[in-house]
Amino acid sequence: MSGKINVAVLGAGGMGATVIRHLKKSELVDKIMAQDIRPERVEQLKTEFGIHATTNLEEILSDGSVKAVFVTSSNAGHHPLVMQSLAAGKAVMCEKPIANTLKDAEEMVAKAEELGAFLQIGFECRYSKLYTQVKDWIDAGLLGEVNNTHCIYICSEFHKKGSWRNKLETGGGMFGEKLSHYVDLPRWWIGGQVKEVYSVCAPNVIPYYEVRDNYHTSYKFDNGAVSHLTFHMAMGQTWGKDALADVVDEQKEDGHQLRYIVVGTKGAASTDVFYRTVKRWEFGDSPVSMTSKLVETLHWSREEDHIHFHNTTDQTLDIVRRVVEGKPPMTPARDALETMRLVFAAEKSADTGKIINPAEVTD
Ligand SMILES: NC(=O)c1ccc[n+]([C@@H]2O[C@H](COP(=O)([O-])OP(=O)(O)OC[C@H]3O[C@@H](n4cnc5c(N)ncnc54)[C@H](O)[C@@H]3O)[C@@H](O)[C@H]2O)c1
Repeated sequence: MSGKINVAVLGAGGMGATVIRHLKKSELVDKIMAQDIRPERVEQLKTEFGIHATTNLEEILSDGSVKAVFVTSSNAGHHPLVMQSLAAGKAVMCEKPIANTLKDAEEMVAKAEELGAFLQIGFECRYSKLYTQVKDWIDAGLLGEVNNTHCIYICSEFHKKGSWRNKLETGGGMFGEKLSHYVDLPRWWIGGQVKEVYSVCAPNVIPYYEVRDNYHTSYKFDNGAVSHLTFHMAMGQTWGKDALADVVDEQKEDGHQLRYIVVGTKGAASTDVFYRTVKRWEFGDSPVSMTSKLVETLHWSREEDHIHFHNTTDQTLDIVRRVVEGKPPMTPARDALETMRLVFAAEKSADTGKIINPAEVTD
């Protein structure tokens, strides 16, 4: 395939609108279309973006000029929309979590493999400079063998009462909906297989959630590395605006935190979204003790926030480029499925109080 393509966004709410804005910047996209099950949303899409929008999925899927679709519906729509789009011969991008059950996610990935189709999952942190910087240091050998990561994520309740996100059937659980990025990153940095997953959760503070509002989850890898994730949703001061826009300056002193430490055998790194900082340390030796020296501290500006975390801009443009050039996804969908297996293992451990071997998680 070469030249420009037509693309469609399926399930075009908040994230769909973000993707449409990115697609409008692509020189490789001719026409953008959108589909949503809510007629009032379809009318908004026409007015806001001046694009063709419809409630009729079949109209989009039977249009041979549409080469790629971006599935950005709420989570319960991912499985049906992806399965139908693959069957219709489209290249597919699907937002995380792949699906609300591991069985559905497996089926989607297997269908793409069977058809030899393009399927990329929306783990855009792998495009985000804050985290690619850490990956570059690891790949350059500057951290040695990474054997310990810890993510601390504290935010406000921004899912709101009545949201599909808070219900088990529609949201699929907090871990998949909110935390899958923060399992995918340590998998990417450490490599290898996770052998054990253990979650400890306190009773919820947020009274109207069916899903959990807190986790402390540990992953043990086959090479001995461990990865911890500590999450709480409630303490950060309530945020009444767009949670994805300009969060940093207004929220850094009000209880919000999103930090990583990444420790290896030769050095360490840390990332801090709210203080716009990435740091690197080098380990050494002295007659007195092992030493650690802070050797790099990088910052970025407010204007660069969007490429440093949640870099959906570059992800969207890259996916279009890959489809046009006939290249495979940046990360195979089967790799994203392994991240999802850890997501479901974390929930299963929280449910049972047991250490879970993710290889044994099938549903
Ligand atoms: N990667 C990220 O960082 C990130 C950030 C935000 C949201 N997301 C993901 O994006 C997806 C959408 O989130 P959102 O915030 O835009 O939600 P939203 O509620 O704003 O929008 C969801 C839209 O999907 C539509 N929809 C639901 N089921 C559908 C179906 N079967 N067919 C067609 N349309 C359907 C709804 O009418 C709605 O307009 C979720 O999967 C979420 O996890 C990812």
